[in-house]
Amino acid sequence: MENIIEIKNLTKSFPGVVANDDISLEVKKGEIFALLGENGAGKSVLMSILFGMYEPDSGEIYIRGEKINEFSPQKSTIRGIGMVHQHFKLVENYTVWENITLGQEIVKKLGPFNFLDNKKSIEEVKALMEKFGLEVNVNALISDLTVAQMQRVEILKMLYRNAEILIFDEPTAVLAPQEIENLLATIVELKNSGKTIILVTHKLDEIKKVADRFAVLRRGSLIDVRDVENTSTKEMANLMVGRDIVIDTVKEEANFGKTVLEVKDLSLKNNLGVEKLKNINFSIREGEIFAIAGVDGNGQEEIAEAISGLNRGYTGEISLNGVDISRFTVRERNLEGMSFIPEDRQNTGLIVDFNIAENISLRDYYKDEYNKNGKMDKGHFIDRADDLIDKYDIRQGRGPQTIVRTMSGGNQQKVILAREIEENLPFIIFVQPTRGLDIGAIEKTREYILEERRKGRAILLISYELEEILALSDTIAVIYGGEILKISDSLTQTEIGEYMTGAKR
Ligand SMILES: Nc1ncnc2c1ncn2[C@@H]1O[C@H](COP(=O)(O)OP(=O)(O)OP(=O)(O)O)[C@@H](O)[C@H]1O
Ligand SMILES: [Mg+2]
Repeated sequence: MENIIEIKNLTKSFPGVVANDDISLEVKKGEIFALLGENGAGKSVLMSILFGMYEPDSGEIYIRGEKINEFSPQKSTIRGIGMVHQHFKLVENYTVWENITLGQEIVKKLGPFNFLDNKKSIEEVKALMEKFGLEVNVNALISDLTVAQMQRVEILKMLYRNAEILIFDEPTAVLAPQEIENLLATIVELKNSGKTIILVTHKLDEIKKVADRFAVLRRGSLIDVRDVENTSTKEMANLMVGRDIVIDTVKEEANFGKTVLEVKDLSLKNNLGVEKLKNINFSIREGEIFAIAGVDGNGQEEIAEAISGLNRGYTGEISLNGVDISRFTVRERNLEGMSFIPEDRQNTGLIVDFNIAENISLRDYYKDEYNKNGKMDKGHFIDRADDLIDKYDIRQGRGPQTIVRTMSGGNQQKVILAREIEENLPFIIFVQPTRGLDIGAIEKTREYILEERRKGRAILLISYELEEILALSDTIAVIYGGEILKISDSLTQTEIGEYMTGAKR
């Protein structure tokens, strides 16, 4: 097979970090080429250069034998390169078809005038959806879509521009298990139609399932390129971190104390009056990991928002250590003893244009103890950030002053985890705590969660990964259609699956 992409001695640095260090590799036309590596290894930067968003400091890229001299996404689009980014880049208040055709609208001439031919644009979008089996309501607003639907729009956007080389940056990190299966099938379908695919992922079983070859990056350097067929997932993991990974999270016998969180008759309607939560009742004790299992979109998000106080439009009662916090604001709940690791780290968990120290201080900056003579004690937060960068292995370029936006996705997640866990509060909500983390970081994070359990914290774990729930939880509640169908400390995987799909009640 011919090489459609050739990268030669490519280097890219940012202040304090060499993101790509003298990388040379080739991608063959029509293959699925996977890229793996730890959080911050340089995967997204390499893909962004290929897509023309950054210019390399040195080195060359050839597409179909032609050297790239000018780096810009517009030029890349013309060269037939498309990218679905780790964090989507859609216009929220535009419709699906408007986003797909943006900048490539069909124009019709009427005498001396040019008109946008919206009808034709919509027809073409619909035809594309049908051809690749990627259905989305063309007239829906992006802001009303689920994450999986938004991703479909991003893929359609590439296809609409006739992209031949499709880059997917961690596309499955945001998807539920059955959506992942659909996406992987789509990717194989695209390959069969002649496209070349680059797939960035932390999930080795996905690579095993669909990829032909894979490359491993470690701290900016290319470690190896291999055939998937002849490599086990264990070998992949070892190549990634440069040592054997021992997965042995130890979960001690449960030792529950008094009830910390109590939720009574929690019900919630959305702004269209649709019931999203129906009479939810549960409680969580000290030292207990209480997990909510379910298919994405069955009310998990609403439970997290209600308990954290992000959405207070519910009925029912929530109490924390015996205090009714039902009407408390987010900050008041935090002061009462609640930490919260939200699902949407970029919008809810962080202020991405602030630096690490400032993000670490978000919970405390206003408190008297950190303010002297009306001035905030910045030194305190810088020292604290320094400690947490060490403890949580947060990879960054400029220490506590690193702007969070410039950090890799997984490392942004570590900043939230560090801030919330280190608050040392009696109750913690973890929503998808390991999303986007590499294997090593996942193990560490699970270890942190178990450590909090050991310390007697009450923990609410909301995760779409059954494997994670089974590994960590003491008690499992299965949610379906906004209702908790079952709460138990002894459910098998099969039983959970049956409740999750509503097959069993
Ligand atoms: N715009 C930028 N400014 C400064 N540093 C950056 C910028 N973009 C990336 N970096 C740095 O380059 C390094 C590689 O980041 P990259 O996003 O490529 O990692 P990654 O392999 O995609 O990790 P993850 O799995 O967490 O997404 C990181 O140390 C990051 O902080
Ligand atoms: Mg990345």
